[in-house]
Amino acid sequence: MIFERVVRPALFRIGQGDAESAHEWTLRRLSGLSRQPGALAALRARYAVENPRTVFGVCFPNPVGLAAGMDKDGHALPAWPALGFGFVEVGTVTAHAQPGNPRPRLFRLPDSTALINRMGFNNAGAAALADRLAALPRPLGVPLGISLGKSKVTALDDAVADYLSSYRALRGHGDYFAVNVSSPNTPGLRALQDRDHLDALLAALVGEKPVLVKIAPDLTEPAIADLLAVCLERGAAGVIATNTTLGRDGLAAGDVARGAETGGLSGRPLAARAREVVSFVHRETGGALPIIGVGGIVDPDDAARMFDAGASLVQLYSGFVYRGPGLVRAVARAAGRHRTGIPA
Ligand code: FNR
Repeated sequence: MIFERVVRPALFRIGQGDAESAHEWTLRRLSGLSRQPGALAALRARYAVENPRTVFGVCFPNPVGLAAGMDKDGHALPAWPALGFGFVEVGTVTAHAQPGNPRPRLFRLPDSTALINRMGFNNAGAAALADRLAALPRPLGVPLGISLGKSKVTALDDAVADYLSSYRALRGHGDYFAVNVSSPNTPGLRALQDRDHLDALLAALVGEKPVLVKIAPDLTEPAIADLLAVCLERGAAGVIATNTTLGRDGLAAGDVARGAETGGLSGRPLAARAREVVSFVHRETGGALPIIGVGGIVDPDDAARMFDAGASLVQLYSGFVYRGPGLVRAVARAAGRHRTGIPA
């Protein structure tokens, strides 16, 4: 409650309401905090939840993760477990450092508990992330996922080499790798979800570490079924469902004008579709592919429905922006009561 009544209004005023300025300010503060053991311990005492489970061979202290894109370059890593997250996905990073799209590129739709972004994979590159991870003073204490994407300068036909170069730089550091072929903000990227492209990509990446594929909510069921067949054939460890949507259904009246911004929509309006995709993946694979459910989880009931749809783990982005760490704790606690998604 303090978050929503005091902290959030203050954060939303930063930079005359520019959402990315608030994001940068918060990351700087969390990065500072990450170097203060006393502050981390105090946060941990308040927010950390033990509710462990093992999925694709990795042990998670609780099943609630930080979704990709929040801490792309891993600036505030020790802060996330202290805020209650049971795993953290950094990235999406690309082989080449790149600035992303021009600002403004992140927008709040508060009446809908939603965001629109067209960041375009702004990141310091895979090598810089590898250096930062190598310099971490101590283990994170929770599994680390690393999300890989295609550099904008790399042609689609050369995508495999681009992902592989990032993977090689980072493979010693991640507990799992997410192949992001579903961001709507890199031209052509989503074509990598096609059978042939994905087959080549997974053939190159699957091996040492668990590799999961992150999919778009805008795919048709036949397209998802094709993609799942490739995942199963190539030994992918799981699926992350879903990324942001190009759709604009479910916006509150006050947000319709903002909804015209180009980019991917996340938050509450995405919840029903993300859950539908999770449910389809679970049915189609007979539960054989573990699923990380993400999209529109803004309260513990949303998370419960995501687990019931077949997710073994969940991730938060927009819900964390609007509800703060109290949501992480509430979902992590409640998750113990919804174990239907855990593969035997
Ligand atoms: C994202 N998301 C994202 N996903 C990804 O795989 N790589 C990325 O770099 C990013 N970047 C990113 C930036 C911003 C500003 C937002 C809002 C989102 C998508 C994110 O991980 C998640 O899949 C969606 O936001 C849906 O979850 P929520 O936000 O509805 O909980």
